Amino acid sequence: MKEKLEAIRAEVRTRLVETATKAELENLRVRFLGKKGELTALLRGMGALAPEDRPKMGALVNEVRGELEAAMEEKLAALDKAELERRLQEEQLDVTVPGVSAPYGKKHPLSQVLDEIKDIFLGMGFQIATGPEVELDRYNFEALNMPKNHPARDTQDTFYITENILLRTQTSPMQVRVMEKQKPPIKVIAPGRVYRSDEVDATHSPLFHQIEGLVVDKGIRMSDLKGTLELFAKRLYGEEAVVRFRPHHFSFTEPSAELDIRCFSCGGKGCRLCKGEGWIEILGAGMVHPKVLEGCGIDPEEYSGFAFGLGLERIVMRRYNIDDLRLFFENDLRFLQQF
Ligand code: DAH
Repeated sequence: MKEKLEAIRAEVRTRLVETATKAELENLRVRFLGKKGELTALLRGMGALAPEDRPKMGALVNEVRGELEAAMEEKLAALDKAELERRLQEEQLDVTVPGVSAPYGKKHPLSQVLDEIKDIFLGMGFQIATGPEVELDRYNFEALNMPKNHPARDTQDTFYITENILLRTQTSPMQVRVMEKQKPPIKVIAPGRVYRSDEVDATHSPLFHQIEGLVVDKGIRMSDLKGTLELFAKRLYGEEAVVRFRPHHFSFTEPSAELDIRCFSCGGKGCRLCKGEGWIEILGAGMVHPKVLEGCGIDPEEYSGFAFGLGLERIVMRRYNIDDLRLFFENDLRFLQQF
């Protein structure tokens, strides 16, 4: 029995040296020290010994057991330490390695120019108003002096939710919304999305953007309109920009005009950009129609005002010589990254 004990001790000792993982160590423990292990079996076999030999043998077995248990503990600690060292090595963080750069996104060209335009008007004391894109017929047309049978409605066909609720075709309804809520003096711009049921092509999109402007106060005259819009054009296109006002018709302004800027590409001689005209139209404007003021509860005898509306896409297209409107909405990074 003693030899057997010695053999077990020797075997565990050698195996312990070879053990490289915790799992192997556990197997070893179960095999020799476990309930059904070899050492336990040895203890059970003590019944075969002479009674006087039993205590000595028992003590010996226990001594070996204690020794092997301690050796296994030690091995476990060594394995744990090795494992920790390995991880510390492997998971080492080299803070000097250059980072992976996350490229910054940037603002869409439409937003960039819109921000610029907002800044120009904010600098002139305007406030910014926003309103619904799903609009009542009353605001989009009726209150703007465009009753149901008005021919100007033909050019602004849109998407109808019901007979009287539609996607706004222009930002002009914001004039009415602002005047209904706020008493003069009023000085606002209202940028936003507008919709028309146009086929998509290089110059048309069912969704585009406008910026509306409205000034109402006592004694506002056409010269205020001209001065404000000329200043705006110079801020946007540079001090050397030359503008002209051309008579036009809008149902909600009287008189009405369109503002042209002398072609900044050819200087007025006529080129591809201005289609040989020498001038480029940038916005529509006019003195707010007395009927519109009245409809909003503002006395046209006491107050007067001017309004204007410009198309954002057109301005951006001309600024950057972009010849296809669809590029704005396709989200092609090759296009967008140029701005
Ligand atoms: N809403 C007009 C359009 O879409 C543009 C416009 C013209 C707005 C004259 C105005 C204005 O405020 O006074 O064609």
